[in-house]
Amino acid sequence: MSDPVVAAKKDAGIRAANMVKDGMIVGLGTGSTVFFAMERLGERIKTEGLRIYGVPTSNQTAMRAEEYGIPLTTLTLHPKLDIAIDGADQVDPKKQLIKGRGAAHVREKIVADAAKQFVVVIDSGKEVTGLDAAVPIEILPFAYGSVAKKLQELGGEPVMRNGVKKDGPVISDNGNYVIDCSFGAITDPSALEAAINNIPGVVGNGIFASMTEKTIVIVGGRS
Ligand code: A5P
Repeated sequence: MSDPVVAAKKDAGIRAANMVKDGMIVGLGTGSTVFFAMERLGERIKTEGLRIYGVPTSNQTAMRAEEYGIPLTTLTLHPKLDIAIDGADQVDPKKQLIKGRGAAHVREKIVADAAKQFVVVIDSGKEVTGLDAAVPIEILPFAYGSVAKKLQELGGEPVMRNGVKKDGPVISDNGNYVIDCSFGAITDPSALEAAINNIPGVVGNGIFASMTEKTIVIVGGRS
């Protein structure tokens, strides 16, 4: 019997991929849900002759795109995208998000920001009444100590993200460290997103609170 969470992710991914039209430039997020969308895009390229270019948000996504036969482009050649498809770790009723479980949130935010439409694909386990997950924060390694202190002053509990099957810190695709910082219930995601970004040494954080107007959330298994 198939896992209902995996089935929901697949449903969300397929529905998002079916929104893509011929000729579009498509932001490709990172993670298990968006990979179902990419698999479907690859299928549409083969069976329908769909012509698209993707902008990948991580090394892993670029490798998957190659596997699925999705041609890639860059933000230099295509600074404006028609649509970006991506997963999320938490989604609140205002379509504010926390992302970054896979440490790809900096490129994911750049790509989502460049897109006219941002399609977030999730299973219902990602829906929350208020954001409260630890916030992934990518930082310059040089600034670890000073950033951690400032995050504490903001009321956070910063924890360095360490590798699995790798001793010491996770290194992002951009060559930086990632801190996971708990703030408890986040009452004003927009203000916290800006306050974290304002700390010198922070490259970007996983709160997505400023693109709600162009965000469409697809919850797999639910129409
Ligand atoms: C990558 O860094 C993350 O932002 C992912 O997009 C997010 O964690 C969702 O991943 P899943 O679709 O695997 O849950």
